[in-house]
Amino acid sequence: MAKRGALITFEGMDGSGKTTQLRRLAARLRAEGRTVLETAEPGGTAIGRKIRQILLDSKNQELSATAELLLYFASRAQDVDESILPALDRGEIILADRFTDSTLAYQGCGRGLGAQTVVLLDRIACRGLRPDLTLLLDMSVETGLARARARNSIESSAETRMDEQSLAFHRKVYEAYGALAEREPQRIRRINAGAPIGEIEHEIWKQVQAYFEKCHV
Ligand code: TMP
Repeated sequence: MAKRGALITFEGMDGSGKTTQLRRLAARLRAEGRTVLETAEPGGTAIGRKIRQILLDSKNQELSATAELLLYFASRAQDVDESILPALDRGEIILADRFTDSTLAYQGCGRGLGAQTVVLLDRIACRGLRPDLTLLLDMSVETGLARARARNSIESSAETRMDEQSLAFHRKVYEAYGALAEREPQRIRRINAGAPIGEIEHEIWKQVQAYFEKCHV
């Protein structure tokens, strides 16, 4: 029987180390002979990367909360249609740096647009596709923001519009992630992102192996 694919998402605050851990997991899976598609949101496709520029450019201060929400979903819809669904059909493992949980936390809660609106748009953009497993890298708001802002200043990044939001905004995002993890403990696994990098990698590997075994991936 052909092995089925899986969509594994990485979530967490800015600066929580998601991207580093995603790459490490991809390398481990490939070393096992699995075919892995790495994607990121916003971004993931050529069109998504153009949308990402609009979303994260700190010059775009006038972007309204609703336009922001729709742009995150526009990028995701493109990624789902162009990359994720075809890769799942081929039986691949998709590792996504953020997915709809980010929108629930940042726009639904942080911006106060509400979970119902986000869920409605998710149905349109993702057409029922849900992550099989979500790794939530749990790090305090202050530590994460300090890391994200330090990185932005070193790389003189133009992608700072979201990191520049207030501490109160990021606290709401953090709380929303906590609530999501409590609501769906089977899917969302909390990982202590304050641990040494190698330990985090090991913990993620354990969680992924357990999921693969349980679900015959
Ligand atoms: P990244 O730096 O992890 O790529 O994420 C870009 C920023 O966009 C980050 O601050 C989180 C934010 N974001 C949202 O606000 N809503 C979303 O749906 C996604 C995917 C990201």
